[in-house]
Order: sequence, then structure tokens, then C-alpha cells
Amino acid sequence: MAKKILSLAHRGFSGYYPENTRVAFEAAVEKTNCDGFESDVHFSKDGKLVIIHDPVLDRTSNGTGYVKNYTYEELCQFDLGSWKGAEFAGQTMMTWAELLDFCKQTHKVCNLELKNYEVFYPGLEEAVIREIERFQMQDQVFLSSFNHISMESCKRMNPEIKTGLLYDKPIHNPEYYFSQTISDAIHPRWCLLQYQRHLTDAYHTMGKEVNTWTVNTEEDVRDMIAQGVDCIISNYPDMAGELIAAH
Ligand code: G3P
Ligand code: CA
Repeated sequence: MAKKILSLAHRGFSGYYPENTRVAFEAAVEKTNCDGFESDVHFSKDGKLVIIHDPVLDRTSNGTGYVKNYTYEELCQFDLGSWKGAEFAGQTMMTWAELLDFCKQTHKVCNLELKNYEVFYPGLEEAVIREIERFQMQDQVFLSSFNHISMESCKRMNPEIKTGLLYDKPIHNPEYYFSQTISDAIHPRWCLLQYQRHLTDAYHTMGKEVNTWTVNTEEDVRDMIAQGVDCIISNYPDMAGELIAAH
């Protein structure tokens, strides 16, 4: 029997809830049949692992400026919900430990993206891995990043934890490039698998999982299912999860 395609809620159920907040993760569990979540991590000024997508606060909170310029206590003052709707007022920033704990309680997997591509965060890899080890969730979490060197480092630090390489633009000779990695998975933006339709099979042949994002229309989810990807990450895990279950 073919392995089930995982359905992950991108930044939680971010289509309808404020991304990367507790209410978005809770809604994904309560209102969809998702297998888990995708989320994003940065360092605060005092070295706490905090869950937010952008390196700056401006788009998704009532704060402004770089996340790394605030201590965790200062970051907790900001409202991360109101920008999505008044009913979400009062959502505050989660830590990686809180998200891990939530995944443990709900038996969901988590794909954590290390946001160390635009901002340099020395020690981020070690800190993320230490928390996973502390919670003993090596088989429930997999890591990804656009920073491929970072993922190779994580894989060397703890080979038990799966790592994946994100990419969002066509690259020269992807079969050769990805055949050189020790990471477990390739994470292409969905349209790249439509642009070069042989790639899913090619990555599988080299023993890599194919985890694609951010697949937000029924037509594209159906296509990714037909291609046989391993994981579909969507802002609409309700829709994606139903199509996966039905196929
Ligand atoms: O991990 C998949 C996807 O989240 C990568 O892009 O910008 O949505 O974090 P972004
Ligand atoms: Ca992400």
C-alpha cells in the first residue's frame, strides 16, 4: 500500500487564522484532518526560539522592526492576531518549546523552517536541535531551510532528525545538485514540479522525500497528489486534507 501523503497546515490554518499563532494551530487540529504543521523560527535578542514568519514584526503584529532586536519578554507585549481580524486580538508570540509541546499533546508532526536565510542567526541550528532532543521528538519533527548549508549542518549534528532543502526558483541541473546532499528531503515550491514534471520521480529515485508548498488551490493539490509527492503544505489544510483522503 502506498505511503499516505502528509497534509500540513502552513503556519497553522493560516488561510483563515493569524499565521503562526496558537489559535491557528488549534484550528488546524480542530477543523481539519491535517497530520501536522509547518512553522517558522527566529531568535529573539536574548536567544529564545520564537515562532513567526517574517524577520520583522510589521506585517503580522502591532510591533515594528526586527524580531532579533527584542527580548522575548518584549516580544510577548505584541498582538499577533488583530491584523487578521478583531476576533483574534490578544494572540501572543509562541516559542518553539510551546509549539513542540502542542505537537506532543496533539500527536501532530511539525516541519520547522529555520529562517536563517535573510538574517544570520549564529547558533540557531544547535538551539533548535537541543529543544527537539529535550522533548524527545526526533521522529515527530523535520527541519527545512532555504539555507542548504544550515540543513547539512543539522543533519550532521543529529542524523536522527530529518532535514529538507527548500527552493523556490528553477535551478541548473537539480538532479545533480540534490544528489550531493545528505539531507532527507527536497522541498520545492509546487509550481517547480509542474514546470519540470519529471522531478518528483527523479528525487524519489535518489531516495529523497518530496515535500511541496504552498499548495492552495484544488487543481494544484490534485496535481501534486497525482505526481505522488510525500507531503503537501497548504494554507487550506481542510481542502488539501480532504482531497488527499479521497484519492
Ligand atoms: O516551508 C515552506 C514555505 O513555508 C517556505 O516559504 O516564505 O512561506 O516560509 P515561506
Ligand atoms: Ca515557512
